[in-house]
Amino acid sequence: MNDLILSVHGLARSFNRRLVFKDLDFSVAAPGSLAITGKNGAGKSTLVKILAGIASPTKGRVTYTADGKAVDADALRERMGFVAPYLNLYEEFTAWENLAILGRIRTGTVPSAEQIGDTLRRVDLWQRRDDLVAGFSSGMKQRLKYAMAILDAPAILFLDEPTANLDADGIAIVETVVRDQQRHGILILATNDESEASWCRERIHLAGRGTDARP
Ligand SMILES: Nc1ncnc2c1ncn2[C@@H]1O[C@H](COP(=O)(O)OP(=O)(O)OP(=O)(O)O)[C@@H](O)[C@H]1O
Ligand SMILES: [Mg+2]
Repeated sequence: MNDLILSVHGLARSFNRRLVFKDLDFSVAAPGSLAITGKNGAGKSTLVKILAGIASPTKGRVTYTADGKAVDADALRERMGFVAPYLNLYEEFTAWENLAILGRIRTGTVPSAEQIGDTLRRVDLWQRRDDLVAGFSSGMKQRLKYAMAILDAPAILFLDEPTANLDADGIAIVETVVRDQQRHGILILATNDESEASWCRERIHLAGRGTDARP
């Protein structure tokens, strides 16, 4: 998937009658990165989910092109990574099995042992590869979410609250993933942490109209 471009036109989202954001227009081209910032409730997670195609906008549209041609939702899903607090792992399977299952779902074939092993080593979970995820600490689960997201070098990587539950070593792993991703593909990162936002080349700040609006 070469020359991937994400474009957003006139995007708005409301829940019931509460407006979260409106009139968003921007684009991000690979290689590149965008930080989405704003206070609690500003709409960062809502926007990330809409960009990833797992939630719908109230108005406007999100389009992807690669090599100048439209990319459909299925093709995008296979080439996308997503790390967020609200995404769940398969708790009753081991770390290794989680990667094997995900690879199978995404591409129809189980990834090679080498690919799974390399990915687990990148997030420093190799020693715990055969342990059930249910017994993992929250930081270990966050590391495994990264392994799931980077397993097949995604064309676009979405990170919502990228360093949640991570220690200093874990944050260093995230910084490496972030650097690699924006060198090759697109990185979209939602955060209210200024130093995390500064990892990205571009930024969109959500002012939280929905909560600040006064009649
Ligand atoms: N499923 C939903 N139903 C109703 N309202 C929702 C829903 N999801 C989000 N909202 C509302 O949309 C607004 C934006 O929420 P969102 O989770 O996108 O904010 P955020 O910027 O990610 O905040 P945080 O920094 O706390 O993660 C909030 O007012 C929230 O209550
Ligand atoms: Mg959020």
